[in-house]
Amino acid sequence: MILSGSASQTLAARLADELDESLGATTTKRFPDDELHVTVTEPIDERAIIVASTVSSDAHIELLQLQDAARQAGADEVVTVLPYMGYARQDQTFEPGEIISTRAAARAISTGTDRVLTVTPHEKNVASFFDVPTTVIDGAPRLADPLPAALTDPLFLSTDAAAAPLAESVRDAYGAGDCDHLIDATDGERPAPTEESLAGRDVVVVDDIVGTGSTMSGSVAVVADAEADRIFATCVHPVFATGALSKIARVGAELIYGTDTLERVISDVSVAPAIADAL
Ligand code: R5P
Repeated sequence: MILSGSASQTLAARLADELDESLGATTTKRFPDDELHVTVTEPIDERAIIVASTVSSDAHIELLQLQDAARQAGADEVVTVLPYMGYARQDQTFEPGEIISTRAAARAISTGTDRVLTVTPHEKNVASFFDVPTTVIDGAPRLADPLPAALTDPLFLSTDAAAAPLAESVRDAYGAGDCDHLIDATDGERPAPTEESLAGRDVVVVDDIVGTGSTMSGSVAVVADAEADRIFATCVHPVFATGALSKIARVGAELIYGTDTLERVISDVSVAPAIADAL
């Protein structure tokens, strides 16, 4: 049975469809002091798969409650799917006294589950913070799906070196093209590609997350200034804070899209098949 967190209802329904499993009935209410209260309203006599992107602190609490409710309802195994794991970017410390928030979140999630699956975490070491077996799923290949069949001399360009494997995943799924990454801007300089020429080419700019849109819009602007032909802007996790979409469109991206790890208007491709394969 699939149980859905409030922020992952579309993906949970798609996963239920992929696996031909039922979507469990749950209710979430809020007390006057703002506390959440989750109920699973039917018995579970099998594995419970909870699909919950922890996109907010409330979503974290809701997930912990869903795990507890699933066990109480009779689940013999609880699997937690984190399509987008919040706090995953706080995976190291820089000052004495700082905590690794990723580890704190992962430990809490581990207490209520037998297994975790997460999609394209910001750093792969995120998996090591969980106390239960954890599978990392590559959400990038599906990002090739919305691209036109005949791109001109395509270049798959990641916004930085760390995201280079994602650009390679999209290129491999597309089946043709070169890969490159932008070199981080230093001292007020703009980011720049390492060596590939961009003029006249169709360029697919790839990142793991778009948050404020600053990184993606800065990257698209560099590509546009280099006289690329068509520019596509894509990411696995479309956080898309207010204004991010127009920030990226303004500098010349003709198609902007992400996956359904987060439910946004531009969540054009689904990671449900990849999650189903990994379960
Ligand atoms: C950074 O390392 C990440 O890969 C993303 O580039 C970053 O999180 C994007 O954030 P924003 O959209 O706020 O620039």
